[in-house]
Amino acid sequence: MIELKNVCKSYNKGAVRAVDDLTLTVPPGEIFGFLGPNGAGKTTTIKMIVGILAPDAGSIIIEGRDNRREALACKAVTAYVPDAPEIYERLTGMEYLNFIGDVYGVPAATRAERATRWLEVFELAGAAADPIQTYSHGMRQKIVLTGALLVEPRVFVLDEPLTGLDPRSAHHLKEAMRGHCDRGGTLFFSTHVMEVAEKFCDRIAIINKGRLTACGTLEELRRQAGESESLEKIFLELTQP
Ligand SMILES: Nc1ncnc2c1ncn2[C@@H]1O[C@H](COP(=O)(O)OP(=O)(O)OP(=O)(O)O)[C@@H](O)[C@H]1O
Ligand SMILES: [Mg+2]
Repeated sequence: MIELKNVCKSYNKGAVRAVDDLTLTVPPGEIFGFLGPNGAGKTTTIKMIVGILAPDAGSIIIEGRDNRREALACKAVTAYVPDAPEIYERLTGMEYLNFIGDVYGVPAATRAERATRWLEVFELAGAAADPIQTYSHGMRQKIVLTGALLVEPRVFVLDEPLTGLDPRSAHHLKEAMRGHCDRGGTLFFSTHVMEVAEKFCDRIAIINKGRLTACGTLEELRRQAGESESLEKIFLELTQP
């Protein structure tokens, strides 16, 4: 469960209002898609949810806990995959996974089982002993995702997770996230791919210039936007410059 209450964030001493009074709730069991044009405030919101940035105002509650007051407890139940997979290049893939396993306290046997499974699924097993600096962009993204899946936390926060993933990997990730939410977990992710949002999300929020312009199921968004048939049309209507 993720709750944002009147969250605001500006950059450059208030010159750029990146997130403006954002309130939304992502209940457990829900795949929640976060949409918006470039520069709308998606990454800023995500960085506040995972505690990298502090909001100027408002609060963020993760699994019932305030993410500033109980930062570590919130981080322990959250996996975050950033939009750019900038990670420890000198570690091998397996060393990175063990590092993540240590940080989150995943027992060795569980860790080994999950790492083997996901390295196999993402076709990374052959590269696990190689340093990450030799990985392609997609491989880096997949090793970061494997690290997140290794932990199986209650809350996944993924910033454009499908960009750069090949179709098979994207399919496996979506299946894993569906399973995670069906078991009562939470997924908050940003995307620019309307088709993914349309088919995959239980609920969708659209943010524009830092403000929430729509939030609901696809049906609710359709009604709000005057029965437009496709999410693309709804998006274009609600985010006019
Ligand atoms: N570190 C920063 N310093 C100053 N301004 C920033 C910084 N990071 C983001 N911004 C500004 O905040 C606004 C929101 O940016 P953000 O990265 O959250 O958008 P986004 O919705 O993730 O966009 P994209 O779809 O391109 O990833 C933009 O106007 C951006 O220029
Ligand atoms: Mg972004």
